[in-house]
Amino acid sequence: MTERTEGGESRTNEGEQAIVTGGTRGIGEAIVRSLAAQGMSVVMVGRSDTALREAADRVRSRVQGAELRLERADLSLVGDVRALADRLAETTSPSVVINNAAVTADIRARTEEGNQLTLATNHLAPYVLMRTLAEAATGRPARFVVVGASPSVLRRFPVDLDDLHAQGARVLSRFPSLRPFAAYARTKNMNTMFVYSLARRLVDTGITVNGAHPGIIARTGLSRDARGLEKVLTTMVQLNPFRKMPEQGADNPVWVATDPGLDGVNGRFFVDRKDVVTPDHTLSPERCEALWERSAELVGMAP
Ligand SMILES: NC(=O)c1ccc[n+]([C@@H]2O[C@H](COP(=O)([O-])OP(=O)(O)OC[C@H]3O[C@@H](n4cnc5c(N)ncnc54)[C@H](OP(=O)(O)O)[C@@H]3O)[C@@H](O)[C@H]2O)c1
Repeated sequence: MTERTEGGESRTNEGEQAIVTGGTRGIGEAIVRSLAAQGMSVVMVGRSDTALREAADRVRSRVQGAELRLERADLSLVGDVRALADRLAETTSPSVVINNAAVTADIRARTEEGNQLTLATNHLAPYVLMRTLAEAATGRPARFVVVGASPSVLRRFPVDLDDLHAQGARVLSRFPSLRPFAAYARTKNMNTMFVYSLARRLVDTGITVNGAHPGIIARTGLSRDARGLEKVLTTMVQLNPFRKMPEQGADNPVWVATDPGLDGVNGRFFVDRKDVVTPDHTLSPERCEALWERSAELVGMAP
């Protein structure tokens, strides 16, 4: 994978189109930069026009000639995601779609549509976006990548299929300040289970979907509202002399999305460019299908 950076090198994916959610900061912005540097034209999805413009300016200042299209959508709202997905299905033909946007929100926070905010942003948004794009696809090969999280950390946070909105506060954690992280971790397991369910439906379509952990990355906005114990843990990551930066976080998802050696690889999960096994509770096809069906109900799509 040769990138065109400030120095200017060859562009390996010239003319290809990519869609990246949450491209306005952190790992997502680094992913946009990396794909643009490979010559891809990138659709950046964000929730604020100002944040999108500022992020695009930063990308263009580092990647000469970066081709960017800015799409505003609040990914916590199913209505917004459906409109975005329909727009993108009509006007783009992406060879790469990376779902990267996520939040760690208060477990009591609900969207105006009634969904718990973390669930809506982290799981329902990629569910609607990728299902819609896959169903509208015309047979052209494409790679979908869902940015997940560390399978070893997520082992302790199985999805409760009877409590997708994470309202069982005490079960999430004894420590109230850790509950937002526990709810977040469940949604990252939902990401993995969604990858497996979607992958089964994509066999022989030319589209593949895989999960990718970016690593534990400092200087991002993910834990900006952390407090108590979670704040302490986040501060330790920020102060670690060996901490990784967003550029390093972009490496694995971008590799999964573009490495020619992964042509046809479908329904896998990667950490540090290695195929890994995710927790047992993410692997059961019955549990994955139950999540698929309950998600369909929540967003009003056919199962
Ligand atoms: N950082 C880590 O150590 C780490 C570890 C494991 C996995 N990850 C995963 O890596 C991905 C990126 O995380 P990050 O650390 O780079 O976090 P981040 O800096 O907070 O970036 C998240 C992005 O998502 C966007 N976003 C959030 N809610 C949105 C909404 N409702 N509509 C549209 N966009 C929305 C944010 O936009 P705004 O700028 O508007 O907030 C931002 O661009 C996530 O999937 C996360 O789970 C991160």
